[in-house]
Amino acid sequence: MNKVVLKVKNLTKRFNNRVAVNNLTLDVFEGEIFGFLGPNGAGKTTAIRMITGLAKMDSGDVYICGKSIKTDFEKAIINVGGIIENPEMYKNFSGLDNLKYYASLYNDIPKERIMHIVELVDLKDRIKDKVKTYSLGMKQRLGIAQALLHYPKLLILDEPTNGLDPKGIIDLRRFLKKISQKDKMAILISSHNLNEMELLCDRIGIINHGTLESIKVLDDLKKYNDNGQIILKVNFPNYAGKIIAKKYNTDKISIYKNTLTVALDKSVIPELTVLLISNGIAIYSISNQTKTLEDVFLDTVNRRALPAPKGDK
Ligand SMILES: Nc1ncnc2c1ncn2[C@@H]1O[C@H](COP(=O)(O)OP(=O)(O)OP(=O)(O)O)[C@@H](O)[C@H]1O
Ligand SMILES: [Mg+2]
Repeated sequence: MNKVVLKVKNLTKRFNNRVAVNNLTLDVFEGEIFGFLGPNGAGKTTAIRMITGLAKMDSGDVYICGKSIKTDFEKAIINVGGIIENPEMYKNFSGLDNLKYYASLYNDIPKERIMHIVELVDLKDRIKDKVKTYSLGMKQRLGIAQALLHYPKLLILDEPTNGLDPKGIIDLRRFLKKISQKDKMAILISSHNLNEMELLCDRIGIINHGTLESIKVLDDLKKYNDNGQIILKVNFPNYAGKIIAKKYNTDKISIYKNTLTVALDKSVIPELTVLLISNGIAIYSISNQTKTLEDVFLDTVNRRALPAPKGDK
């Protein structure tokens, strides 16, 4: 069992009676990339600001490597590196001088460590140039270098791919996967970009109106996605169901009126059609459906999007 690096317990924050983060509870383990996925205004940044001690929580607590952000702030925060909002950079200094300055705020960060991180984020060629000459992607990478300098156990990134080009996004993804696997770092990352999160994360928490609606393990989703469902309309659905269950050794079949839904990949449709017809079953229609992360996300968000009309009985 992997170690819990970040423990968030019943975290709540209100702004003028409006709940921005509602009773948020979750764990992030070492070596795991956990994604906060939610639409604009869902509460991602507010949650992250509380987790890193930048904003006060109304109730709940956050533990990093077992230390409470509330009662043991310094021991907790030493384990965190992060980019929340824009990283503080001195634009008239070089990237290297910025890193050296930042390193001087901690004890015992050797020069070799700085150079190692510079190579890791692929900034070696430009590290002596002034930050004001950097592109957005380069500034992001310098921000990540800064966040990693002091060997954090937990890396927190709020929408790190904003403004990056496709190559920058791919590079960042590879880099984050590498450090999570190799260094067993726990990574909490927020985004409203589904595809990006699907490719990057091990688990995704869907947050909407401040509430964590569901946590999806990406492997499970991918399995679901690969297998999909076949939906058939036939004259004898119960009989068809028995034939399909036997042939494909599955009990994942549901029947409603004359519609039969079975969890099978669409590649079996030609064979399935022949099988049913040869057993004397008439097929009125046949289609397939896959449920992507996007479907799950939209289902979740839409479920709460329409408040019940006032006065509705
Ligand atoms: N300082 C503040 N004062 C009042 N309300 C705030 C403040 N900060 C955030 N909010 C509100 O809290 C809610 C959550 O905002 P938050 O910035 O956490 O969302 P988000 O998920 O990060 O959105 P985005 O994807 O747009 O970055 C919003 O309704 C927002 O208006
Ligand atoms: Mg935000």
